Amino acid sequence: MLDVKDLRVGYGPAQVVHGVSFQVGAGECVSLIGPNGAGKSTILKAICGLLPILGGAIRFDGQDIANQPGYRIAERGIAMCPEGRQVFPEMTVLENLRLGGYTRRRSDLRPDLDEMMQMFPRLRERAKQLAGTLSGGEQEMVAIARALMARPKLCIFDEPSLGIAPRVVDEIEDTLRRIKATGVTILLVEQSVSMALRVADRAYVLEAGQIVLQGSSAELADNASVQNAYLGH
Ligand SMILES: Nc1ncnc2c1ncn2[C@@H]1O[C@H](COP(=O)(O)OP(=O)(O)O)[C@@H](O)[C@H]1O
Ligand SMILES: [Mg+2]
Repeated sequence: MLDVKDLRVGYGPAQVVHGVSFQVGAGECVSLIGPNGAGKSTILKAICGLLPILGGAIRFDGQDIANQPGYRIAERGIAMCPEGRQVFPEMTVLENLRLGGYTRRRSDLRPDLDEMMQMFPRLRERAKQLAGTLSGGEQEMVAIARALMARPKLCIFDEPSLGIAPRVVDEIEDTLRRIKATGVTILLVEQSVSMALRVADRAYVLEAGQIVLQGSSAELADNASVQNAYLGH
């Protein structure tokens, strides 16, 4: 479904992603793990059309999507739940969710809003509350629900557990599993490597802008260097 080949991306003259290749198949949950500053968010931004690429290719459903504007990529069925949540703080929970469905007919959104409120009962209670007044975990739920409102084929998550209370992290893990069970394809960047390897089918390890290791989640969880670097064994 998503095929990234020899991707090179950077900021101005500074290249930070040096020829990265990976695939995400339909219905798969694939994780990208690696230390801070490795280039994970940079790759996700390039996929979503938020950063121009310097080289390589990004194909989605067989079509070249590299360097297309973000709204085009959203229309094709890719949604992003960004790092730091990026909810619209001065808008209500409901308004944030509606915005997530902006590529769709407004009259089609009602059942999806109901579905999101069922998935996140806490958001139903807070539907009229300004998103900026919610806890970090609740804002993460808004960001996840907002992304799902686009009915994406591929949903991309950038560090959903970052800065969230441990009790709520379990809820987010559970949410990711439920989303996967609905058939949505997932690309997950997650600093909690143990969580990423529990949820994902496969993973790629990115260091300094290059893939250094890849395999099934079970293989990587057994790998000594992954255990030393990321799992605290
Ligand atoms: N807006 C930016 N301008 C310049 N450099 C950036 C910018 N954002 C990130 N970088 C640099 O790109 C590298 C990769 O960052 P990032 O993709 O955010 O890493 P990760 O998500 O893996 O922690 C880092 O060295 C970071 O300092
Ligand atoms: Mg990042």
